[in-house]
Amino acid sequence: MGQRLTRRQAQAPRIFISYRRDDAAGDAGRLYDALIARFGKGSVFMDVDTIQPGADYRDVINQAVESCEVLVTVIGKGWLSLADGAGGRRLDDPGDLVRQEIQTALDRKILLVPALVQGAHMPRADQLPTSLGRLARRNAFEISYARWQYDVERLIASLEQPTEKKRVLRHTPALQLTSFVDRESDVDEVKKLLRSQRLVTLVGPSGVGKTRLAMHIAGEIPRPISTTVVELSALGDPALLSSTVGNALGLRDESRDIDARAIADWIAGSRVLLVLDNCEHLIDAVAGLCEDLLAASPSLTILATSGESLRVRGEAIWRVEPLPTRTAAVRLFNDRARLRRHAAGNEADTAAVLEICERLDGLPLAIELAAARAEVMSPREMVARLTDRFALLGSASRSREARHRTLRSAIDWSHELLSPAERLVFARLSVFAGGFDLEAAEAVCAADGVDRADIAETVWRLVDKSLVTVRQGHEGRTRHALLETLREYGLERLVAIAGDETARQRHAAHFLALAETATARMRGPDVMSWLTRMEEDSDNFRTALTGGGLEPAARLRMASTLTEFWDKRSRYTEARLYLGEALAASNEPSVMRATALRGLALMAWSQSDFDEAEARCRESLEMCRDIGDAKGEVLSLEQLAQISHKTGGDFAQARAFANEALGLARHLDDQGLLARCLFRLGVIDWFEEKQADAAGNLETAAALAEQIGDDDLVAASMLVLGHLAATKGELRVAGARLSRALSRWREQVSPRQVALILDGLALAAADAGEGERATCLAAASRAIRRRIGTPTGSRLQRLLEERLGPPRKSSASRAASARGAHMTLPAAVAYALREDADD
Ligand SMILES: Nc1ncnc2c1ncn2[C@@H]1O[C@H](COP(=O)(O)OP(=O)(O)O)[C@@H](O)[C@H]1O
Ligand SMILES: [Mg+2]
Repeated sequence: MGQRLTRRQAQAPRIFISYRRDDAAGDAGRLYDALIARFGKGSVFMDVDTIQPGADYRDVINQAVESCEVLVTVIGKGWLSLADGAGGRRLDDPGDLVRQEIQTALDRKILLVPALVQGAHMPRADQLPTSLGRLARRNAFEISYARWQYDVERLIASLEQPTEKKRVLRHTPALQLTSFVDRESDVDEVKKLLRSQRLVTLVGPSGVGKTRLAMHIAGEIPRPISTTVVELSALGDPALLSSTVGNALGLRDESRDIDARAIADWIAGSRVLLVLDNCEHLIDAVAGLCEDLLAASPSLTILATSGESLRVRGEAIWRVEPLPTRTAAVRLFNDRARLRRHAAGNEADTAAVLEICERLDGLPLAIELAAARAEVMSPREMVARLTDRFALLGSASRSREARHRTLRSAIDWSHELLSPAERLVFARLSVFAGGFDLEAAEAVCAADGVDRADIAETVWRLVDKSLVTVRQGHEGRTRHALLETLREYGLERLVAIAGDETARQRHAAHFLALAETATARMRGPDVMSWLTRMEEDSDNFRTALTGGGLEPAARLRMASTLTEFWDKRSRYTEARLYLGEALAASNEPSVMRATALRGLALMAWSQSDFDEAEARCRESLEMCRDIGDAKGEVLSLEQLAQISHKTGGDFAQARAFANEALGLARHLDDQGLLARCLFRLGVIDWFEEKQADAAGNLETAAALAEQIGDDDLVAASMLVLGHLAATKGELRVAGARLSRALSRWREQVSPRQVALILDGLALAAADAGEGERATCLAAASRAIRRRIGTPTGSRLQRLLEERLGPPRKSSASRAASARGAHMTLPAAVAYALREDADD
C-alpha cells in the first residue's frame, strides 16, 4: 500500500493556481485544499505572498509557472473587468500579475485549464488582450457551488489525464544497441529549439546521422511530454499518412477518418512530441499534415528528419553536419572497431584513423562501414586503399553533392568486398520494408545462388559488416533491418542483377502465408502475441499488397485475410484503402471477392459510413447468389441486418434480413451461421424492447457458440444478456453474465465494451451492498468513456446514477472514485473480474 502511494505521488502533475485576490480568493483557496488533498502539498502552488521584498516578482512568477506542468486559472465574475486605480482594466496592463502568469503558460506551452466559478463565463477572445487570445480556446471547467465536490472531481480527473494518457500515447524510441557519439552542441541546441519552436526539422544528406540524433533527443525528453516516433520510410502511400500518425499516437479511427482535427482532439491538452522520421519521400503530404496539426493542436511539437526542409511556416531548420573529424568521428570509428582485431593501438594508428575519417567527410554511415573492415585490415592499410579509391573525389569538400559521392563510394567499397552469395542476399533483403526476422530472410533469399541453410550465417556476416542492423523483436526474436540508404542501394543492385520480380514474389508469398497463419492463430488464446507479431510486419504486409508480387486473386485473398487484423487494431482507413485496391485489380466474381466485399462493408460500417457499407454488402449478396455461395449469402444477409438496424433504426428491414439469413442457415444446418443469425435477431429484439424474445434468441445463440468454441460470440451474447437482466432488476444474474462476457473477451475487448460491462457490474455491486466497489467501477467506466469520447446516457447508466446517488463525501468513497478514475483498461478489467492481486 505504502509503495503504491509513493508511486502515485511521484506521478502527480505540478500545478500552479492563478487567480485574482479580489475576484476569487475564497474559491481558489478551496480548490487549493482539494488539489493538495489529492496531489500532495509539494505539487500545488498558489500564492506569491512569499516573494521576498526586493526580489523581482516577474522572475519569481516565471520560475514558479515554468516549473509547473499545469496552470489552473480561476475565473470569477470580476476576473475580466476588475479595474485598477486609474480606471483601466487590470487585464490590459502588461504588468498585471494574472496576465503575466497566463502569458508565461501560453509561451511555455504549459497545459492551461480555466476553472469558472461564481457562474462566470469563459471570456471570448475579443475580450482578452491579443496576446492572451488563445486562452479563449481552452476547454473550461465550470465549478458550481451546488455540485462543488463533483465538479472538482472532474477537474482533478482531467489533470490526471495527461499522466495517464502518456501511457497510451507513448511509443518510445527504439532501444539502440550501438553507442551514441555525443554531438555536443547539436543535442543541446535542438532541445533548446524545441522549447521555443513547434516544428524543428533536422536536415542533412543521407547517412549524416539525422535519424540517430532525433532518436537520441526523443529519448531525453522529460515528463510530462510524451514522445511518439513514427518511422515513415516504409510508408509508400501519402493517403495513409495521417491515419498512420494517429494510430501511432494510440488513436483508433473509429467514427471518421483520422485527420489533423481528430488527432488534435485526441491529444487534447497533453503535451506531445511527435517525431516524424525520414520524411523526404512524402514531403508534401508531411508538410500539409504538419501545418494542419500545428494549427489545430497547441500542445503538440514536431521533430522531423528529412533530406530537405518541409517549407512550413514557423519551421525551424537545423542542419545536421558531419561529425567533426578530430573528435567525434574518430571516436565513432574506434567505438565500432573496438571489437575487431585492428583497433587503433598506437599513435600511428590514431593518425591513420583521423585520416580515414577525413577522407570519409565525417559521415557516420561511411565511417561505420569502414570500421567494420577493421576485422581484416589495419587502419594504415585502410588509408592506402581509400587514398587510391577516393583520389578522384577530392577531399574535405563540404558540398552536399560531394558528400553524396563520398557516401556512395564508401558503400560501393563495402559492397565490392562482399562474396557473391553475400551480395545476392544483401540485394534480396532490400525488398523487405520495416525489417525482417530470420525465417522471412530464408523465405525470400533462398533461390539461385544461395542455399537456405547458409542464409542465417550470411545475414550475420552482413551484420558484422554494418550493412544490416540487429535488434530484439517481439518475444526475444531477433529482428534485422537495412538502413534506409542501404536499402535503396540494395534495391538498385537487385534490379541490376536479375530484376526484382522473383524476390518480390517470394516476399509476397511469404507474407501471404504469414497473414493466413497469424490470423488463424489470432482466434486462439495467443491473440495478443500474434497481434504484436503482425504489427511488427505491418510494412511488409503493405509492401506485399502493393508491390506487384501478387496475382489479383492472391491479392484479394491477402487483403481479405488481413481484414481481421486491421479490424482488431482499428485500422479502418488502411483496410478500406487496400481492400478497395485489391477489389479494383480484377472483377472476376468469386467466393473470395464476395468475402472481400463484406470485409470492406464491415470496415466502412465501423467508420459509420453506412451507405457504403450497405452498397458493398448488397454487392456481395448478389454475387453469392450468382455463384451459388450459400454460406456467403447467409453472412451477407446477417451483415445487412446489422447495417440496417444501425442506420435508421429500421427494425422491420433488419428483421427481414435476419429472418431470411436464419432460414437459410437452418437449411444449411451450419451451427456457426445459425448462432450468428440468432444473435443478430436477439439484438434486434433487444433494440425493440422485446425482452423475452431477445433472451430466448441470445441464450440459444450463446449455447451454440459455446459448442463450436466461438468465444467472441459467446461474449457478445453474454453482454447483451447481462444488460437485459440488469434492466429487469435481476442484478446477480446480470453480474454473472457480464463477468462471463469480460472473461471471454479478455485482451480483445474494446474500451466501449468494457465501459458497458462496468456499468452493469457497478449496478450489481451496489445491489449486493458493495458500495465502494460500485463507486470504483462507475468511476472507471466514466473515465473510459471520457477517453474514447463515447456519449453517456445509456439506459443502464441512468439506472446506475439513480442507484448510486450524488457523489458521497466520505473519504472511503472518494478514494474508491479516485481509484476507478485512475485505472488503465487492463487494470479495470482485472478489478472487475476481482483478479487484481492487492485486493
Ligand atoms: N552520433 C552518432 N553516434 C553513433 N552512431 C551514429 C551517430 N550518428 C549516426 N550514427 C550511425 O550512422 C548511421 C547513419 O545514421 P542515420 O541517423 O541513419 O543517418 P540519416 O538519418 O541522416 O540517414 C547509423 O548506423 C547510425 O547509428
Ligand atoms: Mg534517416
